[in-house]
Amino acid sequence: MNILILGSGGREHALSWKISQSPLLKKLFIAPGNAGTESHGQNVALDISDFQAIERFAIKENIDMIIVGPEDPLVKGIHDYFLANEKLKNIKIVGPAKQAAMLEGSKEFAKKFMWENNIPTAAFKSFSKDSYKDACQFLKTMSSPYVLKADGLAAGKGVLILDDYEKACDELSEMFAGKFGAAGSRVVIEQFLEGTELSVFVLTDGNSYVLLPEAKDYKRVGEGDTGLNTGGMGAISPVPFADSTFIQKVKSQIIQPTMEGIKNAGMNYKGFIFFGLISVKGDPFVIEYNVRMGDPEAEVVIPRIKSDLLDLFSGVCEGNLDKKKLELDGRTVSTVMLVSGGYPGLYEKGKPITGHNEVEKSIVFHAGTKIESGQIQTNGGRVMALSSYGKNMKEALERSYDSAGKIQFDGVFFRKDIGFDL
Ligand code: AMP
Ligand code: GLY
Repeated sequence: MNILILGSGGREHALSWKISQSPLLKKLFIAPGNAGTESHGQNVALDISDFQAIERFAIKENIDMIIVGPEDPLVKGIHDYFLANEKLKNIKIVGPAKQAAMLEGSKEFAKKFMWENNIPTAAFKSFSKDSYKDACQFLKTMSSPYVLKADGLAAGKGVLILDDYEKACDELSEMFAGKFGAAGSRVVIEQFLEGTELSVFVLTDGNSYVLLPEAKDYKRVGEGDTGLNTGGMGAISPVPFADSTFIQKVKSQIIQPTMEGIKNAGMNYKGFIFFGLISVKGDPFVIEYNVRMGDPEAEVVIPRIKSDLLDLFSGVCEGNLDKKKLELDGRTVSTVMLVSGGYPGLYEKGKPITGHNEVEKSIVFHAGTKIESGQIQTNGGRVMALSSYGKNMKEALERSYDSAGKIQFDGVFFRKDIGFDL
């Protein structure tokens, strides 16, 4: 098969790394990719929201399957675009169609879906600009901390958690005034849930699903889970508290009703479902759906998949996923993300990176990197993820930190306490 992966982060490097090992692969392209994906396939300079450019490339290179890394092209309807065109119908898309992608593209849509399908989630109400007064009234009926969520995609920044009622009303007013652009023209206000978060992933063909390894990611920039939210500073899989009793609850109370809801709504869902969960006294609740793999979760989940991922993706696209077998690696995988100084605020790019070739105990997944005159340089906030296997969490993390110490670039920073709470 000729494969095109869309995206340029650590997740897409992990996908390329895995797919390049498949005997089913003929040629692999990554658009736009990074300095790491280049060692598994050919990077192509395509804008991933320019569907016409992707179409032309896919026809020219006889692409059989497009694997969509990030949510944006899915929410914009790339799957529907390919289905609607007679010439493109045979090109398989891993990633749901537009209506299903709303599960990530609109918090309000996702919350209503959960409510209608009896899926445990925080109580909520949604409001638009012209109901600001009602929204503040509703906030008054909730207790602190107050959770405000911009309805639309806001690059992971659209959720605010505030202790003070007055401050929450002020923020609400700013959201309606355009703080998050159009994403905040509707806002979901929800009950705060106290518990421990983890992420569960499935691959589905819309009918059946396979349960992938769960993971925990560390979103805050600072040690002890402090400071600003980032895309993710590290991750671990498996998650020790997600024992078989807990996973059984996730399957019966969350995954199965989600699958039923998808079928009943007639959604075309082929791809990953990412369940952002919180365990409240041992019971799982959904915080959010994402319609793609997580990043850096992919950098710990994909290395734990022993089966041929391309064969699983074929099952997803052809609707016979129930015939495929999923084999997992029982070891722990940890990843530690090296980021640019200043991230998640302002940071500089173009810093030369050294030492990555001396890493022996980890897989170096590139995220924000590029090659410039033969030299590998930083090209984003999250630069490289160091994923390591271990017989337990301690061993995996020791290896990731040993590798992290070997890599240098101006301003390099990483969290030293990944896994501290497990
Ligand atoms: P989201 O973008 O929906 O994943 O929200 C970002 C982060 O906000 C989550 O990872 C949680 O840490 C936190 N969060 C969101 N909703 C809630 C909630 N209802 N209760 C507690 N924390 C929440
Ligand atoms: N690491 C969180 C995400 O990919 O959404």
